[in-house]
Amino acid sequence: MNIQWYPGHMTKAKRAMKEDIKLIDLIIELVDARVPLSSRNPDIDDLGVNKARIVLLNKSDLADERFNKAWTEYFEAQGFHVLKVNSKSGSGLKQINGIVQEACKEKIERDRRRGILNRPVRAMVVGIPNVGKSTFINSFAGKACTKTGNKPGVTKGNQWIRLNKSLELLDTPGILWPRFEDQKVGVKLAMIGSINDQILNKDELAIELIRFLNRDYPNVLLNRYGIEVDNEFKILEEVAKARSCLAKGGEFDLIKASNLLIDDFRNGKLGRMTLEFPKKTEK
Ligand code: G4P
Repeated sequence: MNIQWYPGHMTKAKRAMKEDIKLIDLIIELVDARVPLSSRNPDIDDLGVNKARIVLLNKSDLADERFNKAWTEYFEAQGFHVLKVNSKSGSGLKQINGIVQEACKEKIERDRRRGILNRPVRAMVVGIPNVGKSTFINSFAGKACTKTGNKPGVTKGNQWIRLNKSLELLDTPGILWPRFEDQKVGVKLAMIGSINDQILNKDELAIELIRFLNRDYPNVLLNRYGIEVDNEFKILEEVAKARSCLAKGGEFDLIKASNLLIDDFRNGKLGRMTLEFPKKTEK
């Protein structure tokens, strides 16, 4: 499968983020726990140099729990503060304030030495499209937050969400664009829905998904659809049969079956799965 994808506004987004990053102390980077590396844009490491960093393994409810732990260790070994969360349900979010204090210890100490007490940490949420940035901001900020802005010390045009006396969040998240030279990364991003479906060939994507399932989660198709064959094209036909995807003339509608299969995967109906695994990390 070959994915040709050139996101627009790339340079503009990067320029905007460079400006916003000047205003903050802490970057909260969301990655998708099912593809924690493929859903990162490593440019953030250059953009965020000298800033405190937290990595959130978001959508951890959709990822394989065994690998959530492995990825947490992987990012910790790279020096990040890490937390697995489910922004949709709010699970894991309570621990964030503690981890923010930990990640910003140096800044808080520095302020204290200069006699600045209780200046809130200013944070910005970043991540690729669809990773859950808005969901995270809404759940984390909740209803209790108050928006601040256009007051002395606050750059005009930027809205800050005051979460508590020690943390403020820039209310617009920073959008990173997915980056891939490697087609395998593109396919994984397509599977999780981070690439515009309109440019994708869904039946090819479904075949890629079936190959992955056969290799890494071999019982899933049997359990969900009662499928026992192992040829990927036959499997797609079986999915069409199991889900009654028929086109005019009684033929199987393989595009419809592909869409249903991909949706089942994306919504977690096939079970919790991780698409990539950390190489052994040095500790
Ligand atoms: P973005 O701002 O980074 O582009 O992402 P956004 O918050 O819009 O989230 C994209 C989709 O991911 C939404 O689903 C959202 O509900 C879902 N989502 C975000 N965080 C989590 C999580 O931790 N777990 C799960 N399971 N889903 C999450 P949607 O289908 O677009 O909307 P909806 O049907 O959920 O309303």
